[in-house]
Amino acid sequence: MPHRPVRKAVFPVAGLGTRFLPATKAMPKEMLTIVDRPVIQRVVDEAREAGIEHFIFVTGRNKGVIEDHFDRQAELENILRAKGKVDIIEQLENLLPGPGQTSFTRQQAPLGLGHAVWCARELVGDEPFALLLPDMVTRTPGDGCLKQMIDGYNDKGGNIIGVEEVPDEETEQYGVVSIGEGQGNCWPITGMVEKPAAGTAPSGLIIMGRYILQPEIFPILKDQRKGTGGEIQLTDAMQALMEIQPFHAVKYQGMSFDCGSRVGFLTANVAFALDHPELRNDFARELRKLLQDRTGKKPQQ
Ligand code: G1P
Repeated sequence: MPHRPVRKAVFPVAGLGTRFLPATKAMPKEMLTIVDRPVIQRVVDEAREAGIEHFIFVTGRNKGVIEDHFDRQAELENILRAKGKVDIIEQLENLLPGPGQTSFTRQQAPLGLGHAVWCARELVGDEPFALLLPDMVTRTPGDGCLKQMIDGYNDKGGNIIGVEEVPDEETEQYGVVSIGEGQGNCWPITGMVEKPAAGTAPSGLIIMGRYILQPEIFPILKDQRKGTGGEIQLTDAMQALMEIQPFHAVKYQGMSFDCGSRVGFLTANVAFALDHPELRNDFARELRKLLQDRTGKKPQQ
């Protein structure tokens, strides 16, 4: 029997972004740009590429501009049209989800990722859904990260978690999974833990902010007690769901940037600028000059 299709995606965007103050005082951290696109646009693009049809944002106060970003801007379009810049209008249009394809709900209180996901329950309904944490921005050589995970889901069904290998000293910042024997890049998950203390992680495979989950997670989240950091943790609820449903890890081809940290965010900007067809040559030249000034050494070409 084919697995039920994944049509909807949830984006938790209620976080305050305190690490980016003062930039995030009046602007949501998800609207910070990586080169010329807001972080949230890149993550929504990844979901669209994977075939997602409905985009559910779990927002908080001061996040209204995200809703505006995914709407038409008639005044801007009129000005661009008057100037004959129809190509820019078309580009903007291509980035927009269609009418009725977005929904917004509010988390109301910062009780943790598990609580944010639970806030989307009525909008998701009784079907599997993707969950994308916008702090993690992915860069892939071919198919996007979520698309690769959907391929895994079409094969295995159940629940899928995107994973990535990190050095031992970084595991304590993330959820970590342990895995059993599998084939290719897809393995059964045998256990998971949220932010394990240094030296206690069961593996180097972190949960990198992409999930495909079955709706049975919602009743578990409803009663989920607070866990690590005094927050309602999604990882704890997934651990409970693992007792009745299979979970697989997909190690996707590509890399992710943790844009919740300033270094990760800056690195993402450099990486995507170096990928950008119009910017890459000029930007690489300027970057080389800067590095040369810093080190006094001529950097390798
Ligand atoms: C959340 C999840 C964690 C995951 C991480 C990825 O943590 O709880 O399992 O590894 O996102 O970014 P947070 O970054 O919200 O502390």
